[in-house]
Amino acid sequence: MTQQASLPQRVKIVEVGPRDGLQNEKEALSADVKIELVNRLARAGMPNVEAASFVSPKWVPQMATSREVMAGIERLPGTIYSALTPNMQGFEAALAAKADEVVIFGSASEAFSQKNINCSIAESIARFAPVAQAAKASGLRLRGSISTAFGCPYQGEVPLDAVADVVSRMRELGCDEIDIADTIGVATPRQTQAVMLRAAQEFPLAQLSGHFHDTYGQALANIYAALEVGVAIFHSSVSGLGGCPYAKGATGNVATEDVLYMLNGLGIETGVDLDQVVDAGQFIAQALGRKGASRAGNALLAKRAG
Ligand code: HMG
Ligand code: MG
Repeated sequence: MTQQASLPQRVKIVEVGPRDGLQNEKEALSADVKIELVNRLARAGMPNVEAASFVSPKWVPQMATSREVMAGIERLPGTIYSALTPNMQGFEAALAAKADEVVIFGSASEAFSQKNINCSIAESIARFAPVAQAAKASGLRLRGSISTAFGCPYQGEVPLDAVADVVSRMRELGCDEIDIADTIGVATPRQTQAVMLRAAQEFPLAQLSGHFHDTYGQALANIYAALEVGVAIFHSSVSGLGGCPYAKGATGNVATEDVLYMLNGLGIETGVDLDQVVDAGQFIAQALGRKGASRAGNALLAKRAG
């Protein structure tokens, strides 16, 4: 019999539904619905909720309510409320909105960098440098997110060294945490381990996170594979909401309910109450007028209905 890999005892979930989940929705949702969603997720015990995105409203119209959302949410002590900030204009808005953490987001592929943030990887790092400095000077947490770390919708394969290079540049900028993102959900488990282990040569494994979209149905398997190599921070989206407006066909993030169901079964602590997340998922699915995409969420709702 082969020896079982030991998994982390505790995992931090970063709930990205209010940002990554909603940014691709065509119909404008009111700030009130988003505020209620963030509050429900934080009350469920989420340590970190990505609540806003201070990007150009021409590029991502759904996020144009970010200021109102940040002004309207309750702030639970200890909960980190994060906001995306592609440049200084975004940073200043996030600072004024009292974000606890700002997220600079780059890419491991040149082609995706151009499509998503309209500049090369090198230019993006130059844009992030003043944001990073200002975040540190203001005492905010700084997170770096690296898109297309497992494959790019425009250029296809992305070499391990390209991921490692952006990880090391983000480390130099002073990131507290770095997300390794599968923007289009193409990764498979062994590849996940290879990318995570390569990234961990450049940055402490304990501060690396996995951000998996579930386009090809691999996200839970990839999370398990990442747990096996010691990754203990994962992003997920309530009700499986989401997609990136600049990655056509990419579906939502892995559903938070599914991740929690798996982690609970593995005996891994998260501090998050699954039932309350199921309620939050039902709330946002109703607001969007469709059935939620979480398998565990739907199963638990069916069980409740008895
Ligand atoms: P640009 O056009 O190159 O920027 O866009 P610019 O500096 O030339 O400015 C052009 C206009 O945008 C100006 O307005 C600026 O004021 C405005 P105008 O004078 O034309 O009226 N502008 C802004 N407005 C509000 N907030 C700002 C801001 N900056 C400039 N911060 C820019 C560059 C980065 C702004 C643009 O490309 C953009 O907003 N991109 C957003 C892309 C995005 O949000 N993508 C989705 C999030 S990333 C993601 O989902 C991936 C992730 O989940 C991980 C994964 O799964 O891979 C994180
Ligand atoms: Mg994403």
